[in-house]
Amino acid sequence: MDYGLKSRIASILKPNNGRGVMLAVDHGYFLGPTEKLEIPKKTISPIVRYCDSLMVTRGVVRSSVDPNFPVPIVLRVSGGASIIGEDLSNEEITTSIKDAIRINATAVTMSIFVGAKYEHKSLVSLGHLVNEAEEYGLPVLAVTAVGKELAKRDARYLSLSCRIAAEFGAHMVKTYYCDNFQKVVNSCPVPIIVAGGPKIPERDALALTYNSIKAGAAGVDMGRNIWQSQYPVAMIRAVRAIVHSNYNLDQAYKLFQQLAKGQPQNLNKGNFNQNRPFGNRPNQGKPQNQNKQRPPQKQGQKPNQPRPNQPKPAVQPSPAAQQPKPASQPTVPAQQNQKTQ
Ligand code: 5RP
Repeated sequence: MDYGLKSRIASILKPNNGRGVMLAVDHGYFLGPTEKLEIPKKTISPIVRYCDSLMVTRGVVRSSVDPNFPVPIVLRVSGGASIIGEDLSNEEITTSIKDAIRINATAVTMSIFVGAKYEHKSLVSLGHLVNEAEEYGLPVLAVTAVGKELAKRDARYLSLSCRIAAEFGAHMVKTYYCDNFQKVVNSCPVPIIVAGGPKIPERDALALTYNSIKAGAAGVDMGRNIWQSQYPVAMIRAVRAIVHSNYNLDQAYKLFQQLAKGQPQNLNKGNFNQNRPFGNRPNQGKPQNQNKQRPPQKQGQKPNQPRPNQPKPAVQPSPAAQQPKPASQPTVPAQQNQKTQ
């Protein structure tokens, strides 16, 4: 494998353990202002420091992610259908590789819709994207999307989709957790990253993370179960502890509870200080001992220390700055976004 391709994958899946925490905030490309992602900058800034990479569209990168504190960008380059349109599978490549490089994307990502009306179009697009991205050493993450048909998420269907994505040349595949997930992992020759799916109780989302890693997933690409939590920082840190520090479910949930106690609730709407600096992310590139079972962190204990050459993490907004105000834009109601991938 070419150096560029390899090194980019290594910044998404850390070479010391082959694992990564990807934070998904690309939902707006078909859901519009999803609940708790109405103001992307406000959702992203407190939690971005705890992820290894950020899955995002070019519009949100440019408007809402601070280039002074770079995070590996997994750029969504497909789209063309919306939640109120006729068929979610009717996607094409909408962002060029040239623009991905201009943005300094670490990887590009698109959805495939196996078994759907526009299956052919999405698979051919994946082939073309791999051809083009590989010319520049950009890895491709294929997302096995199911549109509104959440019931499709069983091991038989997901194995089929993941394997097809890998056969088309995807370097990583994102899919859903399911019963008999080992079957999906075993039949896919490239790393599998697990999506969180619609919001579920925190302990269940941590169980999903733990079971996915145990079955051989390389990490998670989680969105709603982090930023729709009342405690997004606590949640992403607990997810991270499972992925990178081998916490078991009980340890991770205890960590979540401890961290949640000390944190303001996610009252994420409006009243956001656009000038508030973004924080850096801790421990980036620092090898961690994957075999070491670390006990849950104590209440009030600081997250992993930032690299010495990075500025201090951003100050948490004061409770006053977090008071909600009426949203000025329509929001996709939770019931609607529950019905989607
Ligand atoms: C939407 C996506 C999302 O990034 C993906 O579903 C992960 O987010 P979540 O954990 O909220 O499901 O690819 O098509």
